[in-house]
Parts: sequence; C-alpha cells; structure tokens
Amino acid sequence: MNMKEKLQELREEAVKRIQNSDGLDQLNEVRVAYLGKKGHLTAVSKSMKDVAPEDRPVFGRLVNDTRAHIEEFLEEAKERMERALREKQLEEEVIDVTLPAQKLETGHRHPNTIALEEVQRIFIGMGYEVVEGPEVEYDAYNFTKLNIPEDHPAKDEQDTFYITKEILLRTQTSSVQARVMEQRKPPIRVIAPGRVFRSDEVDATHSPSFHQIEGLVVDKNITFADLKGTLEEFAKQLFGPETRTKFRPHHFPFTEPSAEVDVSCFKCKGSGCRFCKGSGWIEILGCGMVHPHVLEMCGVDAKKYSGFAFGVGLERIALLKYEIDDMRLLYENDVRFLKQF
Ligand code: DAH
Repeated sequence: MNMKEKLQELREEAVKRIQNSDGLDQLNEVRVAYLGKKGHLTAVSKSMKDVAPEDRPVFGRLVNDTRAHIEEFLEEAKERMERALREKQLEEEVIDVTLPAQKLETGHRHPNTIALEEVQRIFIGMGYEVVEGPEVEYDAYNFTKLNIPEDHPAKDEQDTFYITKEILLRTQTSSVQARVMEQRKPPIRVIAPGRVFRSDEVDATHSPSFHQIEGLVVDKNITFADLKGTLEEFAKQLFGPETRTKFRPHHFPFTEPSAEVDVSCFKCKGSGCRFCKGSGWIEILGCGMVHPHVLEMCGVDAKKYSGFAFGVGLERIALLKYEIDDMRLLYENDVRFLKQF
C-alpha cells in the first residue's frame, strides 16, 4: 500500500471512530490514538525519511491535510457533544417558579448572650472595663489567693473537675479578681464574664457548666456605700426603675463583710407571688468588701486601698428576665425555644 492510500485509510478510520464516539472521553481517546505523540498519524509522518526527497513536499502536505481533516471532525464532534450536554443540563435544571421559596433562616442571639450584653452595657455605662480569665485555672487563683486554703470546707461546696492537683476547671469567675489585682495597679474597675464549672448533677436549676459575671473595684476610699449604690443602680437598670434591693448578711471567704442581694419581685412588685415563692424578694447575687487578706495576697497594699466585689449568675439573670423555669432549656439549643427572646 502506498503512503497516500495509507493516509486515506487512517483518515476514514478516524472519522468512523469519531462518529461512533459516545461522549467526550471517547472522543479524546480518538484524538490521542491518531494525533497524539504515539498516534498513528505521527507514526506515518516519522516515515518521511524513507520517502524520496522529491516526493517529500507532496507527502508532507498530505500528512498535514489528513491531520487538519481529523482535527476538524474532532472539533465538530466535540461542539456537538457539548451542546447536547448543555441542553440536557438545562432541561434537568428547569426551575418551577411557582414553587414556594425556600426561607433563609436568620440566626438568633441566645438568651444568655442577650442578658450578658445587657449587664455589660450597664457596667460599661458606669465606667467598667470587660476582662476575661482562663477557664482552665490554677487552684491558687480559684481558691488559695481568694482566702480558701487547702482542706477548707468551702472547697467541698465547689467541687469541680481537676486536670492535675494544681490545675482545675474554675468554679467561679472570682479567680479573675486575683489575676487582675496581680496584673494591674488600682484604680481597678472591671467586670469579668465567663464560663464556670462544678461537678453538679443536671436539674432545673443546676448544670455542671454555667456562667458568671464577676465585678471588682479597687481604689482609695472604696466603701460599702459604693458597693450598695453600684448594685442598686445595676438592679434598677436591669429590672426596672421601681426595683428595690435588700442586702442580707452572708459569708464568702474572700469578702468581709459579705452580703447576698435580693431584688423586689418585678412580677408582683413585692407583694408575693408564685414567681418569688410568696416572699416578694428574689436573690440575684453575692457581694462584699474585698478581704484585706485577699488584697495583700494579690499584691495590693490593703492599708492604702480597699475594694468591693460581686458575682452574678448569668443563667439566673436570663431565667428571671425571660421567665424561663428550667435551666436545661438554655442548653438544648432548640431554635423554637431560642427564637422567642
Ligand atoms: N464566687 C461566688 C460564688 O460563686 C459569688 C461571689 C460572691 C462573688 C461574693 C463575689 C463576691 O465576687 O464578692 O458563689
């Protein structure tokens, strides 16, 4: 067979295979088989050296024509297949504009977050700075520097999760008090919100993990009157201007004197209802004057400075404010519940 016939045959074979190709992959196989580096046509052009010099230009043109012809066929088939694919896709993706639209769900702030932002707004308004401390804490900051020595019974009341003997999950944001006093010089005026942990069983009012907001003020001439005024203002802003407060003597190891603060029930205004269990008062926080021993242990000169501190349970505020009767609802993250606030 001469070269001309050979090329003619290659061309017909290739065209036939192109016509029989089913899909772009097969088409590509044909391209490789004929036009590729190791393809049939390339093999033929390599035999150029065996052709008589005077016949080479004719032979070269023939090879080129064959290549162009196959390429043209390939290109045409490719376009045809791509068009068909596109049409099929368009058909499949038909949009029924009469169907109801899919609603975009917008997120919602958690009641804890709403309550925290409210508390922060109030204290920032009084010139406080918001600071944070670690949740994994040294026993020293959580207990010792707060006047709760090793083997003190107060440690039993706040049993927690220990990482080592010295490192634990903090039981109270009061730990941040010690850190701030060590790091800064008075005047100090901070609140420290954050997560705390206790090895408590879950029920309607307990959870092994919840949140507190700590407050600490240290300066010259800070008195119990400052503490009272500050917390009365806080209660009024949080629960309404008619809210009254009551300071009940209490004991905390790191404050002296210490108190618990009750607010007049904002549902019944103090006459007694189911909400305040008939007493007219609702307990909201613990507080006191920072114990001089604590000041000294944290590097503050107790002869020069005094301070007050308080600790609020964030969930407690959220439950009260939004009249939620079971703390567990706050942790289930059921959007139907969360959306209500
Ligand atoms: N840390 C205390 C608790 O978890 C709450 C508390 C009481 C914080 C009195 C204070 C405070 O700063 O002065 O029960």
